[in-house]
Amino acid sequence: MSRQTRAVIHADALLHNFDLLSAMVTEGQSMAVIKADAYGHGAINVARILSGRSPSFAVAIVEEAILLRDAGITVPIVVLEGPHQDYECAVAGQQNYILVVHQRQQLQWLASCSPDQRPTVWLKVDSGMHRLGFQCHEIPPLLSEYKDLFRDPPVLVTHLACADDLDNPFNLQQLDDFLALRDQTGLAVSIANSPAVVGWPQSRAQWNRLGIALYGAQPLQNDCGLSLQPVMSLQSSVISVRTVKVGDTVGYSQTWQAKRPSVIATVAIGYADGYPRHCPSGTPVVVNGQKASLAGRVSMDMITVDVTDIPIPKPGDPVELWGQQLPVDEVARCAGTISYELLSRVSSRVPRLVRYV
Ligand SMILES: Cc1ncc(COP(=O)(O)O)c(C=O)c1O
Repeated sequence: MSRQTRAVIHADALLHNFDLLSAMVTEGQSMAVIKADAYGHGAINVARILSGRSPSFAVAIVEEAILLRDAGITVPIVVLEGPHQDYECAVAGQQNYILVVHQRQQLQWLASCSPDQRPTVWLKVDSGMHRLGFQCHEIPPLLSEYKDLFRDPPVLVTHLACADDLDNPFNLQQLDDFLALRDQTGLAVSIANSPAVVGWPQSRAQWNRLGIALYGAQPLQNDCGLSLQPVMSLQSSVISVRTVKVGDTVGYSQTWQAKRPSVIATVAIGYADGYPRHCPSGTPVVVNGQKASLAGRVSMDMITVDVTDIPIPKPGDPVELWGQQLPVDEVARCAGTISYELLSRVSSRVPRLVRYV
């Protein structure tokens, strides 16, 4: 590897976070959500690190489940969007994928699948997010209409729209409606993502779906007070250093202008690696363990950093874009987005290196 740009995946941090979060659920099990290549961390890496811990994994689509099986991951895999094509039902049956079914067409595909090939099915309930799922009142008639489809009683799955916001009463409305359905049907349920596990204890249930907090980013809008550890450190190195004089500009479109004699370090990472182009000048960047700030536009393969206030770095010196020295949430705020997007957009050009200590 010539370029020093990489995403270091800290296995110990992942295990720590999983243990911390799953211990919050005393009567139920927690699965790691590893869709979108485990939020950019590498789904196979994460599944291997959590093997023996996470009793199953959740992905969005069948293709993601196939990649895990091909890599030798044997536990059940929950497919959160269910099948997109009829033939995926038989694949799921053969491979022990659990399909979360959210609409009638998927039930019809399952009905035409031969009974010996039918997968386990969970049912998605739209308790207020209005993105996917059956309305609460549709579930009891569906259960009797399609009773032959269910090898086991289906788990009812729902998703809270605002779980990261502890002040939003909509959470209680969704929970009331959904828990009434649970009581009416007597079925096992899955409600909580990681913000809900942390912030809404009444949402913890038989199956909990741990995503962003597992990766060490903040699950709530306010500090959740948990000792979560960042799993990804996005690293690069300085490749060039120069001084600029007052009035000089740096980068595309001259958006940054020196107000004092300044030292600029060029770092080998850009938006093609997933570093957000939206980050404005001033976004923190850690150079040699010290906070400096982005100066000028993010280029495709490089960024430029004002290092005037720290000891002058030299080519080869280490840079962290986010990770153990700089929370990804802080960079996300600067970019006007959320940690989920930054992590999951780290591109395939960036090697993931798993570190066990
Ligand atoms: C249905 C569903 N469950 C669970 C999760 C995990 O959520 P989080 O990353 O907020 O913990 C997601 C993530 O988008 C999801 O779509």
